Amino acid sequence: MGRVTTVDVVNMKGKQKIVMLTAYDYPSARLVDDGGVDIILVGDSSGTVIAGYENTLPVTLDETVYHTKAVMRGSKRALVVADMPFMSYQESIEQARRNAGMVMKETGCQAIKLEGGENMKDVIKAIVDIDIPVMAHIGLTPQSIHRIGGYKVKGKTDAEAEKLLADAQAVADAGAFSVVLECVPEKVATQITEMLSIPTIGIGAGRFCDGQVLVYHDMVGLFDRFRPRFVKQYVNVWPQILDAVKAYTQEVRDGTFPTEGHIFK
Ligand code: KIV
Repeated sequence: MGRVTTVDVVNMKGKQKIVMLTAYDYPSARLVDDGGVDIILVGDSSGTVIAGYENTLPVTLDETVYHTKAVMRGSKRALVVADMPFMSYQESIEQARRNAGMVMKETGCQAIKLEGGENMKDVIKAIVDIDIPVMAHIGLTPQSIHRIGGYKVKGKTDAEAEKLLADAQAVADAGAFSVVLECVPEKVATQITEMLSIPTIGIGAGRFCDGQVLVYHDMVGLFDRFRPRFVKQYVNVWPQILDAVKAYTQEVRDGTFPTEGHIFK
């Protein structure tokens, strides 16, 4: 069986919930692919959960290519979407097309994601026009953190909700095949989902989006710096790994590891 395609994802709207998770390397890609997700997002959240940066802004194109290649090697079925890092598409349409094309050629991913609504409609259209599928991302856009002034819910006021509806329509009209809604009140996300013919994928956007996405490290307990309210942690592996490292440390120090079973004769 081949990979899920962007066309499959569009066709899932209204029929079947779309499942997306992030992954950044070979083991996480194998786990989420074997777990049956439809889409793997190689998110620029790698900046915080893998590289330990304060936010996503320092992530580079080289890092994106490195992570996406590993995810492609680790997955067989899911659609793989590479997240374009900050300042890899904001400068000009030419820059956006060149970098989106480079990421697709180098990694073999099937689509790219970028942040922005009405302000990015020309960029999205230009990329889609050269046959590179685009997943849009509106609401809380972490690459705008310094302008927004923090990680805040977007769309609480009437004016903000109107703006979100306009952003959603703009990215759909520009040709995006789906749109991530991040930190949006459930009522507004539902309105957008009903308004658009492309699927919405929510993160902190309530129950009625066409699909859901979570950051892998958040849902398995591999990131302990902060946990947003919208995250459900399905397993907490951090203390288990810590206990294993402590046990190993102890056993090496007291000479109980390695045993005869671990040696060559
Ligand atoms: O970078 C990322 O992981 C994302 C998701 C939170 C949607 O953009």
